[in-house]
Amino acid sequence: MCEIRSYPVLAPVKPGALTQKLPASAPERGEPMERILADFCGQVIPAVTHWNHPGFHAFFSVSGAPPGILAEFLTAALNINEMLWKSCPAATELEQVTLDWLRQWLGMPPGWFGIIYDTASTSTMHAIVGAREKALAERGARLEDLVLYCSDQAHSSVDKGAITAGIPRTNIRKIPSDGDFRLQPHLLEAAVEADERAGKVPFCVTATVGTTPSTAVDPVPAIASISARHRIWLHVDGAYGGLAAIVPGRRWVLAGADGADSLVVNPHKWLLTPIDLSAFYTRHPEWLRRAFSLVPEYLRTDEQTVNLMDYGMQLGRRFRSLKLWFVMRYYGRDGLAAIIDQHCRWAQELASWVQADPRFELCAPVPLSFVCFHARGRTNQENQAWLDRINATGAVFLSGTTLRDVFVLRFAIGNHQTTRDDIVRAWEVIRSQLDGPAPTQYSQINPV
Ligand SMILES: Cc1ncc(COP(=O)(O)O)c(C=O)c1O
Repeated sequence: MCEIRSYPVLAPVKPGALTQKLPASAPERGEPMERILADFCGQVIPAVTHWNHPGFHAFFSVSGAPPGILAEFLTAALNINEMLWKSCPAATELEQVTLDWLRQWLGMPPGWFGIIYDTASTSTMHAIVGAREKALAERGARLEDLVLYCSDQAHSSVDKGAITAGIPRTNIRKIPSDGDFRLQPHLLEAAVEADERAGKVPFCVTATVGTTPSTAVDPVPAIASISARHRIWLHVDGAYGGLAAIVPGRRWVLAGADGADSLVVNPHKWLLTPIDLSAFYTRHPEWLRRAFSLVPEYLRTDEQTVNLMDYGMQLGRRFRSLKLWFVMRYYGRDGLAAIIDQHCRWAQELASWVQADPRFELCAPVPLSFVCFHARGRTNQENQAWLDRINATGAVFLSGTTLRDVFVLRFAIGNHQTTRDDIVRAWEVIRSQLDGPAPTQYSQINPV
């Protein structure tokens, strides 16, 4: 193994490449660890796309930093299952304390209940189930009448969460976003009122702080007022962008979130914590408990304390808080805020390079650490081919998406090992590939 920069970021393999190298069935007899490790290096690593590579700028760029990696080793060594307080008191208590520390860093008010799930998709699904329970109980609504709202830029996890919660797909309203890809509050309120007139029950709105296609920040304060007026549960999806609030000068990203009913941020996206760790907060844990608490005889305990299995779908739970605790303590708020702030500044710098070159066009505002651009005067197909050539170099990995039917390249900055020199080199690679032969290796890669 050698330095991470010597590996191609995007695995230069075709589907089935690893499968072909592996035996069709498992060994009958145990094998020496040296051989297993040799195959890990020789067979598995070549088929790995390196998310921890400083040249990884696809999707949302993430980092698993050394303190978090060490904590993952310890978690595996302890191998606890945090279903009940009693099944590992340290895990339940560390989870509550660590999430309360993070709540304070985010500038959220005291009294919010925090719980760790695996991903933001799971967190959002739990928010929607909580909202559903509240609406069914308090408003005597029928499931088929419940309506959920989000912008046309919201992550697909909102739809998936609604579907999982039993909300009919026809009751998911996509509110058109404005020219900067933010949800338009007046259109939200008009849609809510139209549904109310039609006898439907608006029960949940999801606002996004850092949308997936362009990192737009929805106007949460205005959305919170509408939600309060119409008794709708407001869930804020800050999976990536919400974490910028730990930077004193960037608190604005979570403005209005204190008026929401729930919030998700993903430390595994932008807080140097290895995948997976999603932090979910709500003012109403009682609705989650009502939806999910089901205690069979063999799980009854006497202690009057929180049993986290009561607040979600899963019974068994990993000791995830340990890695967040290690990362928060090792870097401190100053250290983590400095990294996030630096990423945002580099994104501004990159955006200025895009704007300075008449061949390119900036395709969305840059509120966080993420730049959307494309080559002017080229078709979507030509821009896609350009992206494929860039990724085929192995030096960097970017993803693409369409913004109002226009194909754009997405450049995300979020890895703690990325330096300004990396960004400069990445920009050189990007420019050098504008005109070149058709790529042979890679096909389209869409945002997660
Ligand atoms: C805004 C937003 N919300 C939710 C998600 C889903 O995140 P997860 O992979 O943790 O489910 C993403 C993924 O990138 C996202 O960008």
